[in-house]
Amino acid sequence: MPVVRSVDSSALADAAALLRAGGLVSFPTETVYGLGADATNSHAVARIYEAKGRPSFNPLICHVANPSSLQTLVRLDDRAHRIVAAFWPGPLTLVLPRQDGCPLSPLVSAGLPSVAVRMPDHPLALALLQEVGFPVAAPSANRSGMISPTRAAHVIASLGDRVDMVLDGGGCGVGLESTVIDLSGPDIVLLRPGGVPRERLEAVLGPLLCAMDNDTAPISPGQLLSHYAPSCPVRLNALSAGPGEVLLGFGPSGVAVGAGLNLSLSGDLVEAAANLFAMLYELDDAGCQGIAVMPVPDHGLGLAINDRLRRAAVPRDPRQGAVITGRK
Ligand code: TXA
Ligand code: MG
Repeated sequence: MPVVRSVDSSALADAAALLRAGGLVSFPTETVYGLGADATNSHAVARIYEAKGRPSFNPLICHVANPSSLQTLVRLDDRAHRIVAAFWPGPLTLVLPRQDGCPLSPLVSAGLPSVAVRMPDHPLALALLQEVGFPVAAPSANRSGMISPTRAAHVIASLGDRVDMVLDGGGCGVGLESTVIDLSGPDIVLLRPGGVPRERLEAVLGPLLCAMDNDTAPISPGQLLSHYAPSCPVRLNALSAGPGEVLLGFGPSGVAVGAGLNLSLSGDLVEAAANLFAMLYELDDAGCQGIAVMPVPDHGLGLAINDRLRRAAVPRDPRQGAVITGRK
């Protein structure tokens, strides 16, 4: 069983030390309990997906202690400044373009060029974020397919010892997840209804496009069949590279067949998930004619890795980048 600590300064220091070491700490926010990891550490972020047992990599929200920490993470326009001033701290998540040189793991964005950020309105969450000094990626602290936890006991019941420590801050006031709005394009799109009602947003922002009730509105990346994908073709379950291709290996046998990069030499799925997007970017930038990927076992985190590789391998129009071919 994980350590459950009611909060005092030594519990906060221990939680921060665990996060710095790449561990998973569940902490209360005003919405629901989050399952937190260092958002700049790909291996730690991969452990979130493993603990939740998600069969795919949905992008995660990065939690920050104050708006000024956004500068190095995302590009803010006037709309974003206005929204932050009106609604933060609070249950509102903003999807914004990643800043150049953004230190966040590409895994928190699931390889997308955007990142979701929020400043929670909860003293313990803010104290923890302040203490660590880096953004903390945190989905709701439940196994995939289960309901979001609003008490420390819910976290334990759902995740057990898949989480290293739970900070017990009692019940969550809002009790439902944050509202998510997308500011990465010209229109402001409501991606997920949540703690801040649509009407309150519209009073400040004017009418919003809504991903749920409008077929022409952009849909949440979690619903796209084809997400981030390299510009060159991706071939799956390859045992060797074909002409012009570079091989992305998995496991010890990758060495013998001359893999250019290897997701995990030892065949560790957490390491492979941590490397996935960064290695796809690197091979794509190397200017090869195609990326051949060795088979990755279809269990544990391998399910999410293979889901994302299948999406990357969907044929696309090279002039348009990723094509939206359908909903999940
Ligand atoms: O209240 C909350 O938001 C809680 C607490 C812990 O902060 N967190 C939470 O995270 O609900 P999660 O992972 O369960 O939901 C994140 C939502 C998903 O719907 C995801 O698709 C969306 O945010 N999201 C994250 N990054 C995105 C991105 N780059 N573009 C579009 N949507 C994104
Ligand atoms: Mg959730």
